[in-house]
Amino acid sequence: MADSVRRGMLIKKAVDVIRSSLNGQTVSLEKLSVVEKQLNELAQHKELFTFEDFPPPTQDDPRTSCLYRLSEDEDHRFALYANVANGEVNAPPHDHTTWAVIVGVHGQEENRFYNKTNNGVAQVGSKVVELNSSVKLLADDLHSIHIKAGEPVLNFHMYGLALEQLHARNYWSEVKGQWKTFPAHTDIREAR
Ligand SMILES: [Fe+2]
Repeated sequence: MADSVRRGMLIKKAVDVIRSSLNGQTVSLEKLSVVEKQLNELAQHKELFTFEDFPPPTQDDPRTSCLYRLSEDEDHRFALYANVANGEVNAPPHDHTTWAVIVGVHGQEENRFYNKTNNGVAQVGSKVVELNSSVKLLADDLHSIHIKAGEPVLNFHMYGLALEQLHARNYWSEVKGQWKTFPAHTDIREAR
């Protein structure tokens, strides 16, 4: 069986379990354990999620990371992406306005967590996402993402709703000293 067919079957199987577990439910961190478990199992097939099939941006690209769509329902829910990076990434503290789960496959991505304060954010913890390590976030939870140059990273990012549909994600701009809104993503690549 071709790798792409096998990959597609395993992704569908994982998303089917996630959908049937979460559909019609109030999402909690406990409920998101299902997502974490399914994506961690998918990550064990890391030979199906290579940098050849999901290339990071090339050296001449100003961006150091990009997203490939792995699965998304017709109504744009249960959106699963491969996030790949090669080079330094520093995403500011932000929320998602929907639930999010990040599961490591290749390389390391540091997640830092924050509480809102009167004048910005205060870090309350951090976790390195790598193979067998993951992060779960509810709609209002804040995190920032940090990847070091030198080792490419591929991980799974799954959201309650596709990133092109999220028009009101907030991020804290340290430079401006204020909360700003991310524009919805427009450059998500389709997986082969
Ligand atoms: Fe995020």
